[in-house]
Amino acid sequence: MDIAIAGGTGTLGSRVAEELRTRGHRVRVLSRRSPEYPVDLTTGEGLIDALAGCDVLVDAANGHGTAKGAARTLVDGSRRLLAAARAVGVQHHVCVSIVGCDMVPMGYMQVKAEQEWVVREGRVPWTIVRATQFHELLASALASAAKWGVVPVPRARLRTVACMEAAWVVADVAEGVPHRGRIEVCGPEDTDVREMARVWRNVTGRKAVLMPMPLPGRMGQALRAGALTVERPDVRGTMSFGEWLRTEQVWASVAGLR
Ligand SMILES: NC(=O)c1ccc[n+]([C@@H]2O[C@H](COP(=O)([O-])OP(=O)(O)OC[C@H]3O[C@@H](n4cnc5c(N)ncnc54)[C@H](OP(=O)(O)O)[C@@H]3O)[C@@H](O)[C@H]2O)c1
Repeated sequence: MDIAIAGGTGTLGSRVAEELRTRGHRVRVLSRRSPEYPVDLTTGEGLIDALAGCDVLVDAANGHGTAKGAARTLVDGSRRLLAAARAVGVQHHVCVSIVGCDMVPMGYMQVKAEQEWVVREGRVPWTIVRATQFHELLASALASAAKWGVVPVPRARLRTVACMEAAWVVADVAEGVPHRGRIEVCGPEDTDVREMARVWRNVTGRKAVLMPMPLPGRMGQALRAGALTVERPDVRGTMSFGEWLRTEQVWASVAGLR
């Protein structure tokens, strides 16, 4: 199949692209910095040319910064993607989203919920793949905070998943027929950010002090109650945060020996 991946240079998108190429598909990587298919979701530039002749579109793009800024890429960008996809006859729009995004009163999560709505209401057959936070995201947040010697850790239940395991699910969905529904993928462990921070410190040997951080209000309540987790996912990844971290450490030391 010919498969376009918006955000195909990103954390998830690059892994989905690699996986689908390995499975024998012709993959187009779409992003602002893509040399072959440069597109901008905030303007629509390049989309028609990039999507012409594609069977499937995977949207793994992301928007950062303020909620308003993120919405320009994710919500307005989805409208532009869907319009272009419909114009050139794409058969399946696969949107990557987040488990529980409609349950947490947080700007970015509300943007993701709105993006899902745009996809559901759109005229291109669709499937939404919801994933929990990636191990990669948590490890990178902890490492950034540790630069200051102190890591603030809220009480929040998560079920992080290895990005590669989420990418396999997205690739499976892209190869299948549109569900007009949601597929949810999460990691193997229901755990707490504080426990994950302790695991991260043990495995990486970092000395940063873990400082409990209260999360007040409805957002804190939702995160403590596990709003970003799911009890019965469609797919449960197998690699825990600790196992993933240890594997990363091994790869880093092998790379250091080269
Ligand atoms: N990270 C997580 O833990 C996690 C968990 C669950 C679900 N998700 C969802 O998975 C998706 C991908 O997340 P990610 O963490 O992999 O994102 P990421 O690493 O930040 O990658 C974002 C991608 O979007 C592209 N992009 C950004 N702005 C663009 C624009 N205006 N036009 C075209 N392309 C643009 C970027 O490429 P250029 O900069 O070259 O344009 C890049 O390829 C998002 O929908 C996110 O909500 C993420």
